[in-house]
Amino acid sequence: MKTAVYPGSFDPVTNGHLDIIRRSAKVFDEVIVGVLVNPQKKGLFDIEERVELIQRVVKDIPNVKVESFSGLLIHFMKNKGAKVIIKGLRAVSDFEYEFQMSLMNSKLDPNIETVFMMTSAKNSFLSSSSVKQVAMFGGCIKDLVPDEIIPDIIKKVSHL
Ligand code: PNS
Repeated sequence: MKTAVYPGSFDPVTNGHLDIIRRSAKVFDEVIVGVLVNPQKKGLFDIEERVELIQRVVKDIPNVKVESFSGLLIHFMKNKGAKVIIKGLRAVSDFEYEFQMSLMNSKLDPNIETVFMMTSAKNSFLSSSSVKQVAMFGGCIKDLVPDEIIPDIIKKVSHL
């Protein structure tokens, strides 16, 4: 079975992430969305909330699982029996950082491959940070994130 891991912070999941998840689920037998637990970075949503939001929006895709991880991605992957990392590329500006990470991961474990998927044009400007900023200042986040999580984001930013 070909298992791939799609890692990220997902604070919160956006339509750009969801598009990559859906497309990877067509290419791999199993896709594990790996949500990074990062104690150094306080997010808008805590880790359990992020996992639950993603689970809610992928519930119709049978070969997708959502799990959190801490520490090195390659250790999580070994634990899951996965050899492929999926990353989305939005623009040339993403390339340098992603290239560096992919080289580091293959240096740490030469059996690991990173597969890059180009983000769909309609999502190419999207990021979790910009969604948070728009929501915080009362802008409309429809079409930026899945409809079913919009109320959660609005509620969360209204308590800040
Ligand atoms: O959504 P993000 O914040 O761009 O995702 C970054 C992520 C989680 C993919 C990356 O920070 C990561 O893999 N962190 C785990 C630590 C690790 O394995 N570092 C070594 C590669 S440089």
